[in-house]
Amino acid sequence: MTKITDLIKKMSLEEKAALCTGAGPWTTTPVEHLGIPEMTVTDGPHGVRRAENITTFVEKSLPATCFPTAACMASTWDVDLIQKLGEALAYECIALKVDVILGPGANMKRTPLCGRNFEYYSEDPYLAGEIAASFINGVQSKGVGTSLKHFAANNQECQRSTISSEFDERTFREIYLPAFEAAVKKAKPWTVMCSYNKLNGIYAAENHRLLTEILKEEWGYQGFVVSDWGAVHDRVEALKAGLDLEMPGPRERRVEEVIDAVRSGKMDETVLNEAVRRILEIVFKAAETKKGGSFDIARHHALARQVAGEGMVLLKNNGILPLQKQKHIAVIGHSAKEAYYQGGGSSHINPTQLDNPYEELQKLVGEAELSYAEGYTKEDSFDQALIDEAVTHARSAEVALLYICLPATKESEGYDRPDLDLTSHQVALINAISAVQPNTVVILNNGAPLVMSEWIEGTAAVLEAWMMGQAGGGAIADVLYGKVNPSGKLAETFPIKLIDTPAYINYPGENGAVRYGEGIFIGYRYYDAKQVPTQFPFGYGLSYTTFSYKNPKVSAESFRDVDGLTISVDVTNSGKVAGKEVVQVYVHDHKSKLVRPPKELKGFAKVELQPGETKNVTLKLDFRAFAYYHPSYKQWITENGEFDILIGASSADIRCAQTVTLQSTLELPSILNRDSTLREWLEDPRSMSVLAPLAQQLNDQMRANFSGSDDIGMDPMGFLLDTPLMNLLHFLGSALPTSPEEMVDGFLARVYV
Ligand code: BGC
Repeated sequence: MTKITDLIKKMSLEEKAALCTGAGPWTTTPVEHLGIPEMTVTDGPHGVRRAENITTFVEKSLPATCFPTAACMASTWDVDLIQKLGEALAYECIALKVDVILGPGANMKRTPLCGRNFEYYSEDPYLAGEIAASFINGVQSKGVGTSLKHFAANNQECQRSTISSEFDERTFREIYLPAFEAAVKKAKPWTVMCSYNKLNGIYAAENHRLLTEILKEEWGYQGFVVSDWGAVHDRVEALKAGLDLEMPGPRERRVEEVIDAVRSGKMDETVLNEAVRRILEIVFKAAETKKGGSFDIARHHALARQVAGEGMVLLKNNGILPLQKQKHIAVIGHSAKEAYYQGGGSSHINPTQLDNPYEELQKLVGEAELSYAEGYTKEDSFDQALIDEAVTHARSAEVALLYICLPATKESEGYDRPDLDLTSHQVALINAISAVQPNTVVILNNGAPLVMSEWIEGTAAVLEAWMMGQAGGGAIADVLYGKVNPSGKLAETFPIKLIDTPAYINYPGENGAVRYGEGIFIGYRYYDAKQVPTQFPFGYGLSYTTFSYKNPKVSAESFRDVDGLTISVDVTNSGKVAGKEVVQVYVHDHKSKLVRPPKELKGFAKVELQPGETKNVTLKLDFRAFAYYHPSYKQWITENGEFDILIGASSADIRCAQTVTLQSTLELPSILNRDSTLREWLEDPRSMSVLAPLAQQLNDQMRANFSGSDDIGMDPMGFLLDTPLMNLLHFLGSALPTSPEEMVDGFLARVYV
């Protein structure tokens, strides 16, 4: 008998019930006489927020490195770097005596308004899944656990505790689940945190299909499921659904409810035992990593600077960047002197140190003279005097560096942004500065897209510096001076207007529910399909060098889905400075039974190249890269036919395309039914022999019935093809040997054999 099954046998019902509820805000319940230790969890996701006093919720936390937030991490497109970041987080957890860090967040960015988007990676499930898996692998490689959150379909903060996210199955499988699925399968997070919201009417915490059928059974998840803090409504139903640990504690009533449910027979004790087993496996695994000691503050700060530098995205550059020998530089903007580097809520870190962007810039400017004007205040207020003062500075300088951040607390957990705008004061400031200074560089600090059409035109350059973490001030200086050649690419589309965004009409929902009416068309899938122009497309980002793509190759022009395909391309640094390029591979299906987005990201790689250097980039596309989820078959399917493999520098900058032919190895069952149309019958290869004897009769009868169709301006075939076979048979009436119902049932029986 294993140690854990043995322990479960020894535990009393009370002890087991107590283990499934936290002992405090951040700790699990220990059982001392059995040697079951307490386990400590803490936020997450871009730093360790370990409360000084572990029995308190929001009191000051111990200093820890505030790494760039997830939006910035994802923009690096660098899975190795994010793995390193994960390792660093683990070292900090060990030093701060934390067993599990509550992250990463793998939710999709359905609307750019979601207040928590800075904590999430992308609008693309493949990219988010890859980054999440690297993060988890990094942390867990050092013996510290993670909590993959918020599972699932938690895509807005507005009414997050009660809203029901309403979507169809295909959308769920193709958009909202895959990042979690990839992270679970590739990185095996120790814990998964369920979200607050309902999914199609059922709370995540009490959702058996989500937590047990999909996560544990289909995906083979072995860790435990923890509730988001306070997400449980019915403790017993939650346990039955697969929610193992309720947090936070203590909640004596919950424990009592579990005990009563077992005693009264309302819940089988095996359900409780299974939750206990899952929790104990992790508790003991965590205990194997000895905690305490210290971490290398300077090294982690340097890593935070590196990630920030790699995640920043150069959006516009007329050549002013990198800065060269300018002698008079006007530095304008509150966020130049007070870094805006993280968002509000549970992820808020007490940094070990904090770069001041202005001071970091000063270290790199050499002889140049800096002058400073505040430009705007932290709050959303209008003050013409501040603008006038800044204009005076900008006018007499050779270049103006305008550091712009959103008003404090605009981006936070718990609520969404009302708009995608800068303040009207900031817009006026940028326009006033760029009117007098052609070399105006705007450096943005924000956690999610902003609209720019009111102010971008007059600027010389724009750098998206994100919520960049504690070392971001230095990273901005690195990028401005070309110490770091920008290589970040957008992991989310920047729209021109809020009303252009895919979820606009359905957000934030009403009457307790938000309908995911755009279906699978979120992010670039939508902008591509509708040909809606964007400010900056998904995957976009400039560099100080240029890259050329040549010799695209595919391993086979015709291939079987199970064998997948290997793609390769030569990428050359065709400019004058070293740089990094993110090579992106999208797949386009020529023809499919169900509608598909024009292109979907299925592979990427980041390569570093010296000037003139060429590297061969090779990527493997597997079955899933070509498949889509078919709700009637209830599985991922492939279909025979042609696909374009699009290799590009962004979703809108495809450099090479190759067409390949896929052979599906699937033998799909028939999905014909009593309602199936003539078209569906004709498209099903098995039905041909069944229908053949009837074909002539049907044809003749229909011709007779519709002989006058010209007179009513109708194409009879167009009409007939989309009419159920059953209805057509009814037209044949007495000419049939049996009733239409019996005939269709007979055909179905033969098709299903
Ligand atoms: C957040 C989680 C967080 C938890 C603990 C919740 O409000 O949604 O992301 O991990 O609190 O702080």
